[in-house]
Amino acid sequence: MSHLRDSDPSVFGLLDQEVARQNEGLELIASENFVSRAVMQAMGSPLTNKYAEGLPGKRYYGGCQVVDQVEDLARDRAKELFGCDWVNVQPHSGANANAAIYFTLMNPGDTFLGLDLSHGGHLTHGSPVNFSGVLYRAEHYGVDRDGPNAGRIDMNKVREKALSIRPRMISIGASAYTRDFDYEAFRSIADEVGAFLWMDMAHTAGLIAAGLLNNPMPHCHIVSTTTHKTLRGPRAGMLLIGKDSENTIGKVAPKSGRVKNWGELFDSAVFPGFQGGPLMHVIAAKAVAFKEALDPSFTEYSRQVIANAKAMTSAFLELGYEAVSGGTDNHLALLDLRNKNITGKDAEIALQAADITVNKNMVPFDDQSPFVTSGIRVGTPAMTTRGLKEDDFRQIVSLMDRVITNPGNEDVIKQVKGAIHEMTDRFPLYDFVTA
Ligand SMILES: Cc1ncc(COP(=O)(O)O)c(C=O)c1O
Repeated sequence: MSHLRDSDPSVFGLLDQEVARQNEGLELIASENFVSRAVMQAMGSPLTNKYAEGLPGKRYYGGCQVVDQVEDLARDRAKELFGCDWVNVQPHSGANANAAIYFTLMNPGDTFLGLDLSHGGHLTHGSPVNFSGVLYRAEHYGVDRDGPNAGRIDMNKVREKALSIRPRMISIGASAYTRDFDYEAFRSIADEVGAFLWMDMAHTAGLIAAGLLNNPMPHCHIVSTTTHKTLRGPRAGMLLIGKDSENTIGKVAPKSGRVKNWGELFDSAVFPGFQGGPLMHVIAAKAVAFKEALDPSFTEYSRQVIANAKAMTSAFLELGYEAVSGGTDNHLALLDLRNKNITGKDAEIALQAADITVNKNMVPFDDQSPFVTSGIRVGTPAMTTRGLKEDDFRQIVSLMDRVITNPGNEDVIKQVKGAIHEMTDRFPLYDFVTA
Protein backbone atom coordinates (compact mmCIF):
# COMPACT_ATOMS: atom_id res chain seq x y z
CA MET A 1 0.00 0.00 0.00
CA SER A 2 2.91 2.33 -0.70
CA HIS A 3 2.44 5.69 -2.38
CA LEU A 4 2.57 5.75 -6.20
CA ARG A 5 5.57 8.06 -5.92
CA ASP A 6 7.54 5.15 -4.41
CA SER A 7 5.95 2.10 -6.02
CA ASP A 8 6.02 3.39 -9.62
CA PRO A 9 8.16 6.49 -10.09
CA SER A 10 7.77 6.21 -13.88
CA VAL A 11 3.99 6.63 -13.87
CA PHE A 12 4.14 9.09 -10.98
CA GLY A 13 6.61 11.22 -12.91
CA LEU A 14 4.34 11.27 -15.95
CA LEU A 15 1.31 12.20 -13.81
CA ASP A 16 3.39 14.99 -12.35
CA GLN A 17 4.26 16.23 -15.85
CA GLU A 18 0.64 16.12 -16.98
CA VAL A 19 -0.56 18.02 -13.90
CA ALA A 20 2.12 20.64 -14.61
CA ARG A 21 0.96 20.84 -18.25
CA GLN A 22 -2.65 21.34 -17.13
CA ASN A 23 -1.60 23.93 -14.52
CA GLU A 24 0.63 26.00 -16.80
CA GLY A 25 -1.17 25.82 -20.13
CA LEU A 26 -4.27 27.44 -21.48
CA GLU A 27 -6.87 24.72 -22.05
CA LEU A 28 -9.29 25.74 -24.77
CA ILE A 29 -10.45 22.34 -26.04
CA ALA A 30 -14.23 22.68 -26.00
CA SER A 31 -14.84 19.12 -24.81
CA GLU A 32 -12.54 19.32 -21.79
CA ASN A 33 -12.93 20.62 -18.27
CA PHE A 34 -11.21 20.45 -14.88
CA VAL A 35 -12.95 18.29 -12.28
CA SER A 36 -12.94 19.04 -8.58
CA ARG A 37 -10.75 17.25 -6.08
CA ALA A 38 -13.91 15.58 -4.73
CA VAL A 39 -14.75 14.09 -8.13
CA MET A 40 -11.17 12.80 -8.44
CA GLN A 41 -11.24 11.30 -4.96
CA ALA A 42 -14.34 9.30 -5.84
CA MET A 43 -12.70 8.14 -9.10
CA GLY A 44 -9.51 7.13 -7.35
CA SER A 45 -11.31 5.10 -4.68
CA PRO A 46 -11.54 1.37 -3.81
CA LEU A 47 -14.92 1.29 -5.55
CA THR A 48 -12.87 0.36 -8.62
CA ASN A 49 -12.54 -3.09 -7.05
CA LYS A 50 -16.24 -3.93 -7.09
CA TYR A 51 -18.06 -6.00 -9.69
CA ALA A 52 -21.72 -4.98 -9.88
CA GLU A 53 -23.21 -6.30 -13.13
CA GLY A 54 -26.92 -5.49 -13.21
CA LEU A 55 -28.80 -2.66 -11.56
CA PRO A 56 -29.23 -1.65 -7.88
CA GLY A 57 -31.23 -4.37 -6.12
CA LYS A 58 -30.83 -6.70 -9.14
CA ARG A 59 -27.14 -7.58 -9.33
CA TYR A 60 -25.37 -10.70 -10.55
CA TYR A 61 -22.76 -10.37 -7.75
CA GLY A 62 -22.89 -10.33 -3.96
CA GLY A 63 -21.52 -7.55 -1.79
CA CYS A 64 -23.30 -4.77 -3.69
CA GLN A 65 -25.15 -3.29 -0.71
CA VAL A 66 -22.95 -0.18 -0.64
CA VAL A 67 -22.46 0.39 -4.37
CA ASP A 68 -26.23 0.02 -4.84
CA GLN A 69 -26.63 3.13 -2.71
CA VAL A 70 -23.94 4.92 -4.68
CA GLU A 71 -25.65 4.19 -8.00
CA ASP A 72 -29.05 5.18 -6.58
CA LEU A 73 -27.59 8.50 -5.43
CA ALA A 74 -26.14 9.11 -8.90
CA ARG A 75 -29.45 8.20 -10.58
CA ASP A 76 -31.59 10.31 -8.23
CA ARG A 77 -29.34 13.34 -8.61
CA ALA A 78 -29.24 13.02 -12.40
CA LYS A 79 -33.06 12.83 -12.50
CA GLU A 80 -33.34 15.94 -10.35
CA LEU A 81 -30.72 17.78 -12.41
CA PHE A 82 -32.37 17.14 -15.75
CA GLY A 83 -36.00 16.81 -14.63
CA CYS A 84 -36.38 13.32 -16.10
CA ASP A 85 -37.85 10.14 -14.74
CA TRP A 86 -35.47 7.48 -16.09
CA VAL A 87 -31.71 7.46 -16.28
CA ASN A 88 -28.93 4.92 -16.74
CA VAL A 89 -25.60 6.07 -15.30
CA GLN A 90 -23.56 3.05 -16.37
CA PRO A 91 -22.26 3.85 -19.88
CA HIS A 92 -18.47 3.97 -19.74
CA SER A 93 -18.41 6.73 -22.35
CA GLY A 94 -20.52 8.85 -24.66
CA ALA A 95 -19.85 6.47 -27.56
CA ASN A 96 -21.08 3.51 -25.47
CA ALA A 97 -24.24 5.39 -24.50
CA ASN A 98 -24.87 6.07 -28.18
CA ALA A 99 -24.22 2.45 -29.12
CA ALA A 100 -26.95 1.39 -26.67
CA ILE A 101 -29.37 3.70 -28.47
CA TYR A 102 -28.69 2.22 -31.91
CA PHE A 103 -28.87 -1.28 -30.44
CA THR A 104 -32.33 -0.55 -28.98
CA LEU A 105 -33.99 1.50 -31.71
CA MET A 106 -32.38 0.36 -34.96
CA ASN A 107 -31.84 -2.88 -36.85
CA PRO A 108 -28.68 -3.24 -38.93
CA GLY A 109 -29.29 -1.64 -42.30
CA ASP A 110 -31.96 0.77 -41.02
CA THR A 111 -31.70 4.40 -42.10
CA PHE A 112 -31.16 7.31 -39.75
CA LEU A 113 -30.63 11.01 -40.20
CA GLY A 114 -28.02 12.98 -38.27
CA LEU A 115 -25.86 16.10 -38.45
CA ASP A 116 -22.95 15.77 -40.89
CA LEU A 117 -19.59 15.28 -39.17
CA SER A 118 -17.98 18.05 -41.19
CA HIS A 119 -20.83 20.38 -40.17
CA GLY A 120 -20.31 19.77 -36.46
CA GLY A 121 -21.72 16.26 -35.92
CA HIS A 122 -19.97 13.44 -34.05
CA LEU A 123 -18.33 10.24 -35.33
CA THR A 124 -21.07 8.17 -33.67
CA HIS A 125 -23.68 9.99 -35.75
CA GLY A 126 -22.95 7.99 -38.87
CA SER A 127 -19.31 8.48 -39.85
CA PRO A 128 -18.19 5.73 -42.27
CA VAL A 129 -15.27 4.90 -39.95
CA ASN A 130 -17.57 4.36 -36.95
CA PHE A 131 -19.91 1.41 -36.23
CA SER A 132 -22.85 3.81 -36.69
CA GLY A 133 -21.90 4.35 -40.32
CA VAL A 134 -20.90 0.73 -40.95
CA LEU A 135 -23.91 -1.09 -39.48
CA TYR A 136 -26.62 1.42 -40.38
CA ARG A 137 -27.49 3.56 -43.38
CA ALA A 138 -26.44 7.04 -42.37
CA GLU A 139 -27.95 10.08 -44.03
CA HIS A 140 -27.07 13.60 -43.04
CA TYR A 141 -28.40 17.11 -42.79
CA GLY A 142 -26.03 20.07 -42.59
CA VAL A 143 -25.83 23.80 -42.07
CA ASP A 144 -26.41 26.50 -44.68
CA ARG A 145 -23.40 27.59 -46.70
CA ASP A 146 -24.38 31.25 -47.04
CA GLY A 147 -27.25 33.66 -46.67
CA PRO A 148 -28.83 34.89 -43.45
CA ASN A 149 -28.81 31.35 -42.02
CA ALA A 150 -25.13 30.62 -42.84
CA GLY A 151 -23.61 28.12 -40.42
CA ARG A 152 -27.02 27.22 -38.98
CA ILE A 153 -29.35 24.26 -39.45
CA ASP A 154 -32.37 25.08 -41.61
CA MET A 155 -35.31 23.10 -40.23
CA ASN A 156 -37.13 23.21 -43.57
CA LYS A 157 -34.21 21.38 -45.16
CA VAL A 158 -34.14 18.83 -42.32
CA ARG A 159 -37.84 18.20 -42.97
CA GLU A 160 -37.37 17.84 -46.73
CA LYS A 161 -34.56 15.36 -46.20
CA ALA A 162 -36.54 13.40 -43.61
CA LEU A 163 -39.55 13.22 -45.92
CA SER A 164 -37.40 11.93 -48.76
CA ILE A 165 -35.49 9.23 -46.85
CA ARG A 166 -38.04 8.31 -44.13
CA PRO A 167 -35.44 7.52 -41.43
CA ARG A 168 -36.16 5.22 -38.49
CA MET A 169 -34.34 7.63 -36.21
CA ILE A 170 -33.30 11.28 -36.28
CA SER A 171 -30.37 12.44 -34.19
CA ILE A 172 -29.66 15.91 -32.89
CA GLY A 173 -26.51 17.04 -31.13
CA ALA A 174 -23.02 17.98 -32.14
CA SER A 175 -19.36 18.33 -31.26
CA ALA A 176 -18.84 21.63 -33.03
CA TYR A 177 -22.09 23.53 -33.48
CA THR A 178 -22.38 26.97 -31.93
CA ARG A 179 -26.16 27.38 -31.92
CA ASP A 180 -29.02 25.98 -29.87
CA PHE A 181 -31.42 23.36 -31.28
CA ASP A 182 -35.15 23.70 -31.97
CA TYR A 183 -36.32 20.45 -30.36
CA GLU A 184 -40.00 21.13 -30.98
CA ALA A 185 -39.39 21.47 -34.72
CA PHE A 186 -37.27 18.29 -34.73
CA ARG A 187 -40.02 16.41 -32.86
CA SER A 188 -42.70 17.52 -35.25
CA ILE A 189 -40.58 16.29 -38.18
CA ALA A 190 -39.88 13.01 -36.38
CA ASP A 191 -43.60 12.52 -35.74
CA GLU A 192 -44.45 13.37 -39.34
CA VAL A 193 -42.13 10.66 -40.70
CA GLY A 194 -42.61 8.18 -37.84
CA ALA A 195 -39.01 8.40 -36.58
CA PHE A 196 -37.52 8.16 -33.13
CA LEU A 197 -35.87 11.35 -31.93
CA TRP A 198 -32.52 11.16 -30.14
CA MET A 199 -30.55 14.09 -28.70
CA ASP A 200 -26.85 13.63 -27.97
CA MET A 201 -26.22 16.52 -25.56
CA ALA A 202 -22.63 15.47 -24.76
CA HIS A 203 -21.25 18.94 -25.32
CA THR A 204 -23.96 21.08 -23.83
CA ALA A 205 -25.30 18.94 -20.94
CA GLY A 206 -24.01 21.32 -18.26
CA LEU A 207 -25.56 24.35 -19.96
CA ILE A 208 -28.86 22.47 -20.34
CA ALA A 209 -28.75 21.36 -16.68
CA ALA A 210 -28.25 25.00 -15.71
CA GLY A 211 -31.34 25.94 -17.71
CA LEU A 212 -29.38 28.19 -20.09
CA LEU A 213 -30.15 26.30 -23.31
CA ASN A 214 -33.34 24.70 -24.60
CA ASN A 215 -34.29 21.48 -22.82
CA PRO A 216 -34.45 18.39 -25.05
CA MET A 217 -36.03 16.20 -22.38
CA PRO A 218 -39.75 16.85 -23.13
CA HIS A 219 -39.28 16.39 -26.88
CA CYS A 220 -36.91 13.46 -27.41
CA HIS A 221 -37.53 9.73 -27.11
CA ILE A 222 -34.02 9.30 -25.74
CA VAL A 223 -31.19 11.61 -24.69
CA SER A 224 -27.52 10.64 -24.34
CA THR A 225 -24.64 12.57 -22.89
CA THR A 226 -21.08 12.47 -21.71
CA THR A 227 -20.50 13.61 -18.15
CA HIS A 228 -17.06 15.19 -18.55
CA LYS A 229 -17.54 18.23 -20.75
CA THR A 230 -19.67 21.22 -19.68
CA LEU A 231 -21.16 18.96 -16.97
CA ARG A 232 -17.69 18.81 -15.33
CA GLY A 233 -17.85 15.25 -14.04
CA PRO A 234 -15.75 12.14 -14.63
CA ARG A 235 -15.00 10.86 -18.15
CA ALA A 236 -18.10 8.73 -18.89
CA GLY A 237 -21.58 8.61 -20.43
CA MET A 238 -25.25 8.49 -19.44
CA LEU A 239 -28.72 7.91 -20.94
CA LEU A 240 -31.91 9.78 -19.97
CA ILE A 241 -35.62 9.75 -20.79
CA GLY A 242 -37.87 12.69 -19.88
CA LYS A 243 -40.99 10.61 -19.33
CA ASP A 244 -40.63 6.85 -19.52
CA SER A 245 -43.45 4.80 -21.03
CA GLU A 246 -44.24 1.41 -22.58
CA ASN A 247 -42.15 0.64 -25.64
CA THR A 248 -43.84 0.64 -29.03
CA ILE A 249 -41.61 -1.94 -30.71
CA GLY A 250 -43.28 -5.00 -29.22
CA LYS A 251 -40.71 -5.95 -26.56
CA VAL A 252 -42.34 -7.93 -23.74
CA ALA A 253 -41.05 -9.62 -20.59
CA PRO A 254 -40.48 -13.26 -21.59
CA LYS A 255 -42.47 -14.95 -18.79
CA SER A 256 -45.29 -12.55 -17.94
CA GLY A 257 -45.78 -10.99 -21.37
CA ARG A 258 -45.77 -7.54 -19.73
CA VAL A 259 -44.90 -4.76 -22.15
CA LYS A 260 -41.56 -3.38 -21.06
CA ASN A 261 -40.87 0.31 -20.61
CA TRP A 262 -38.39 2.06 -22.88
CA GLY A 263 -36.06 2.54 -19.94
CA GLU A 264 -35.89 -1.20 -19.36
CA LEU A 265 -34.89 -1.74 -23.00
CA PHE A 266 -32.09 0.82 -22.79
CA ASP A 267 -30.94 -0.68 -19.45
CA SER A 268 -30.60 -4.06 -21.18
CA ALA A 269 -28.80 -2.50 -24.13
CA VAL A 270 -26.16 -1.03 -21.81
CA PHE A 271 -25.82 -4.29 -19.87
CA PRO A 272 -25.67 -7.03 -21.07
CA GLY A 273 -25.98 -5.54 -24.57
CA PHE A 274 -22.77 -3.55 -24.73
CA GLN A 275 -20.97 -3.59 -21.43
CA GLY A 276 -19.99 -5.89 -18.60
CA GLY A 277 -19.49 -4.59 -15.09
CA PRO A 278 -20.18 -0.90 -14.47
CA LEU A 279 -17.30 1.30 -13.27
CA MET A 280 -18.60 1.92 -9.75
CA HIS A 281 -15.80 4.37 -8.87
CA VAL A 282 -16.76 6.46 -11.91
CA ILE A 283 -20.46 6.21 -11.01
CA ALA A 284 -19.55 7.51 -7.50
CA ALA A 285 -17.72 10.40 -9.18
CA LYS A 286 -20.82 11.07 -11.31
CA ALA A 287 -22.89 11.29 -8.10
CA VAL A 288 -20.41 13.84 -6.72
CA ALA A 289 -20.41 15.88 -9.94
CA PHE A 290 -24.23 15.90 -10.10
CA LYS A 291 -24.38 17.22 -6.53
CA GLU A 292 -22.00 19.99 -7.58
CA ALA A 293 -24.13 20.72 -10.65
CA LEU A 294 -27.27 20.98 -8.50
CA ASP A 295 -25.65 23.79 -6.49
CA PRO A 296 -26.63 27.33 -7.57
CA SER A 297 -22.94 28.11 -8.09
CA PHE A 298 -22.98 25.76 -11.10
CA THR A 299 -25.60 27.93 -12.80
CA GLU A 300 -23.35 30.93 -12.24
CA TYR A 301 -20.39 29.00 -13.64
CA SER A 302 -22.40 27.97 -16.73
CA ARG A 303 -23.60 31.54 -17.26
CA GLN A 304 -19.96 32.63 -17.23
CA VAL A 305 -19.00 29.87 -19.70
CA ILE A 306 -21.47 31.33 -22.21
CA ALA A 307 -20.58 34.97 -21.44
CA ASN A 308 -16.90 34.12 -21.99
CA ALA A 309 -17.63 32.32 -25.28
CA LYS A 310 -19.62 35.31 -26.53
CA ALA A 311 -16.88 37.78 -25.53
CA MET A 312 -14.22 35.55 -27.10
CA THR A 313 -16.15 35.16 -30.37
CA SER A 314 -16.79 38.92 -30.61
CA ALA A 315 -13.09 39.61 -30.06
CA PHE A 316 -12.17 37.19 -32.87
CA LEU A 317 -14.73 38.84 -35.18
CA GLU A 318 -13.28 42.27 -34.39
CA LEU A 319 -9.87 41.01 -35.51
CA GLY A 320 -11.30 39.87 -38.85
CA TYR A 321 -11.73 36.18 -38.06
CA GLU A 322 -14.62 34.23 -39.54
CA ALA A 323 -16.69 32.47 -36.89
CA VAL A 324 -19.01 29.82 -38.32
CA SER A 325 -22.63 31.02 -37.81
CA GLY A 326 -21.29 34.49 -36.96
CA GLY A 327 -21.45 34.01 -33.21
CA THR A 328 -22.29 31.54 -30.47
CA ASP A 329 -25.11 30.53 -28.13
CA ASN A 330 -23.02 28.10 -26.13
CA HIS A 331 -19.51 27.30 -24.92
CA LEU A 332 -17.53 27.33 -28.15
CA ALA A 333 -16.47 29.17 -31.26
CA LEU A 334 -15.67 27.48 -34.55
CA LEU A 335 -13.19 29.59 -36.52
CA ASP A 336 -12.74 29.27 -40.27
CA LEU A 337 -9.11 30.25 -40.78
CA ARG A 338 -9.10 30.28 -44.58
CA ASN A 339 -8.97 34.09 -44.70
CA LYS A 340 -5.94 33.98 -42.38
CA ASN A 341 -4.01 31.73 -44.75
CA ILE A 342 -3.29 29.05 -42.19
CA THR A 343 -4.72 25.54 -41.83
CA GLY A 344 -6.31 24.25 -38.65
CA LYS A 345 -3.42 21.81 -38.28
CA ASP A 346 -0.74 24.50 -38.48
CA ALA A 347 -2.67 26.84 -36.17
CA GLU A 348 -3.01 24.04 -33.62
CA ILE A 349 0.73 23.32 -33.78
CA ALA A 350 1.72 27.00 -33.51
CA LEU A 351 -0.63 27.62 -30.58
CA GLN A 352 0.61 24.48 -28.84
CA ALA A 353 4.15 25.89 -28.96
CA ALA A 354 2.86 28.81 -26.89
CA ASP A 355 1.09 26.42 -24.45
CA ILE A 356 -2.37 27.21 -25.83
CA THR A 357 -4.30 24.00 -26.48
CA VAL A 358 -7.05 23.95 -29.11
CA ASN A 359 -8.02 21.35 -31.69
CA LYS A 360 -8.04 21.59 -35.45
CA ASN A 361 -11.57 21.11 -36.70
CA MET A 362 -13.36 20.72 -40.01
CA VAL A 363 -15.54 23.68 -40.90
CA PRO A 364 -18.70 23.31 -43.01
CA PHE A 365 -17.83 22.85 -46.71
CA ASP A 366 -14.17 22.38 -45.83
CA ASP A 367 -11.75 21.76 -48.69
CA GLN A 368 -9.08 20.25 -46.45
CA SER A 369 -8.92 16.69 -45.10
CA PRO A 370 -9.87 15.92 -41.47
CA PHE A 371 -6.13 15.61 -40.72
CA VAL A 372 -5.46 19.15 -41.91
CA THR A 373 -8.78 21.07 -41.71
CA SER A 374 -9.46 24.75 -42.28
CA GLY A 375 -10.58 25.56 -38.77
CA ILE A 376 -10.06 25.40 -35.05
CA ARG A 377 -12.59 24.83 -32.31
CA VAL A 378 -12.12 27.00 -29.22
CA GLY A 379 -14.06 26.42 -26.00
CA THR A 380 -14.42 28.18 -22.67
CA PRO A 381 -15.57 25.55 -20.09
CA ALA A 382 -12.16 24.58 -18.70
CA MET A 383 -10.67 28.04 -18.29
CA THR A 384 -13.96 29.34 -16.86
CA THR A 385 -13.62 26.68 -14.16
CA ARG A 386 -10.28 28.30 -13.30
CA GLY A 387 -12.04 31.64 -12.88
CA LEU A 388 -11.33 33.50 -16.11
CA LYS A 389 -13.79 36.21 -17.13
CA GLU A 390 -14.64 38.12 -20.33
CA ASP A 391 -11.60 40.46 -20.18
CA ASP A 392 -9.26 37.51 -19.77
CA PHE A 393 -10.76 35.90 -22.87
CA ARG A 394 -10.35 39.13 -24.83
CA GLN A 395 -6.67 39.08 -23.85
CA ILE A 396 -6.45 35.41 -24.88
CA VAL A 397 -7.84 36.25 -28.32
CA SER A 398 -5.24 38.94 -28.86
CA LEU A 399 -2.47 36.50 -27.80
CA MET A 400 -3.85 33.78 -30.08
CA ASP A 401 -4.03 36.26 -32.95
CA ARG A 402 -0.35 37.11 -32.52
CA VAL A 403 0.56 33.43 -32.84
CA ILE A 404 -1.81 32.65 -35.72
CA THR A 405 -0.56 35.61 -37.75
CA ASN A 406 3.13 34.84 -36.95
CA PRO A 407 3.18 31.04 -36.77
CA GLY A 408 6.91 30.58 -37.34
CA ASN A 409 8.12 33.51 -35.24
CA GLU A 410 10.03 32.16 -32.22
CA ASP A 411 10.11 35.55 -30.46
CA VAL A 412 6.34 35.93 -30.67
CA ILE A 413 5.81 32.37 -29.43
CA LYS A 414 8.15 33.02 -26.50
CA GLN A 415 6.45 36.27 -25.54
CA VAL A 416 2.96 34.78 -25.80
CA LYS A 417 3.97 31.73 -23.80
CA GLY A 418 5.27 34.04 -21.07
CA ALA A 419 1.98 35.96 -21.02
CA ILE A 420 0.04 32.67 -20.85
CA HIS A 421 2.07 31.43 -17.90
CA GLU A 422 1.59 34.74 -16.14
CA MET A 423 -2.17 34.37 -16.68
CA THR A 424 -2.42 30.74 -15.56
CA ASP A 425 -0.33 31.57 -12.46
CA ARG A 426 -3.05 34.01 -11.44
CA PHE A 427 -5.71 31.26 -11.63
CA PRO A 428 -4.24 28.31 -9.72
CA LEU A 429 -5.61 24.83 -10.43
CA TYR A 430 -4.21 21.64 -8.88
CA ASP A 431 -1.61 21.69 -6.10
CA PHE A 432 -1.34 17.90 -5.88
CA VAL A 433 -0.52 14.99 -8.13
CA THR A 434 -2.48 12.19 -6.44
CA ALA A 435 -4.89 12.37 -3.51
C1 LIG B 1 -21.61 14.87 -29.40
C2 LIG B 1 -20.71 13.81 -28.85
N1 LIG B 1 -21.20 12.58 -28.67
C3 LIG B 1 -20.44 11.58 -28.19
C4 LIG B 1 -19.13 11.78 -27.87
C5 LIG B 1 -18.29 10.60 -27.44
O1 LIG B 1 -17.95 10.63 -26.12
P1 LIG B 1 -16.76 9.69 -25.59
O2 LIG B 1 -15.49 10.29 -26.05
O3 LIG B 1 -16.96 9.70 -24.10
O4 LIG B 1 -17.01 8.31 -26.16
C6 LIG B 1 -18.57 13.05 -28.01
C7 LIG B 1 -17.15 13.28 -27.66
O5 LIG B 1 -16.49 14.15 -28.07
C8 LIG B 1 -19.38 14.09 -28.53
O6 LIG B 1 -18.89 15.32 -28.74
